[in-house]
Amino acid sequence: MPKINIAIDGFSSCGKSTIAKELAALLHYKYIDTGAMYRALALFSVRKKLMTPEGIIDIHQLERDILQADVDFHLNKETKKSEVFLNDEAVEPYIRTLELGNLASTISKYRFVRDKLQKLQKKIGLQKGVIMDGRDIGTVIMPHAELKIFMIADPEIRAERRMLELGDKGANVSKAEVMEMQRVRDHEDLTREEDPLMRADDAVILDNSYMTKEQQLNYVIELVEHIKKDLIS
Ligand code: DC
Repeated sequence: MPKINIAIDGFSSCGKSTIAKELAALLHYKYIDTGAMYRALALFSVRKKLMTPEGIIDIHQLERDILQADVDFHLNKETKKSEVFLNDEAVEPYIRTLELGNLASTISKYRFVRDKLQKLQKKIGLQKGVIMDGRDIGTVIMPHAELKIFMIADPEIRAERRMLELGDKGANVSKAEVMEMQRVRDHEDLTREEDPLMRADDAVILDNSYMTKEQQLNYVIELVEHIKKDLIS
């Protein structure tokens, strides 16, 4: 059976990574979480004091020092999963906070930041059997992906999902706070000049507000099967 590439774009907390991971496991494809790469660079910037926790950036110093940040995916020997690494450190445990998500969004506005990460993403996208999720995958990184999905969900439902996730990690935030942060981040991701979040013309919209994980997975698998059949006929 031929392998295809799948590009998944959408707002934060729309369930992109959940479906992408399940699809990758089922199809034996490689999963690349590009948001994790922006989060890792945000972590690098905060640790090096090139960005304050409030998101104020020393842009000239960051442009120089970013050369010292190596962001890549490796197999984590402990979790046995492919994870994002920052200078050979598995940083997954530190990057999943609301704050790092916001800082990743802030840093992702800069062309030199995007160029650095997009170079690796585009290289990976030249292979087949890749599922990548982010904001610019169908439009910039894998414009020739056989399947493009644009995920959306009701903002309230997204906030509730995010709260459940954060609750698991012991964070104590109200739904109103999560919704406000979500609104700001959506606005920033949609309105930035460099590669804003946009639906590719040929992307399928998947509104999963009222869908279970199984329903979403079945829906996407059907799309994949259709595309594969077309490819061999
Ligand atoms: O998907 P995420 O929430 O982990 O992404 C964090 C931020 O990174 C997101 O708000 C914007 C940025 N990002 C981006 O600009 N382009 C991508 N392909 C992925 C993420």
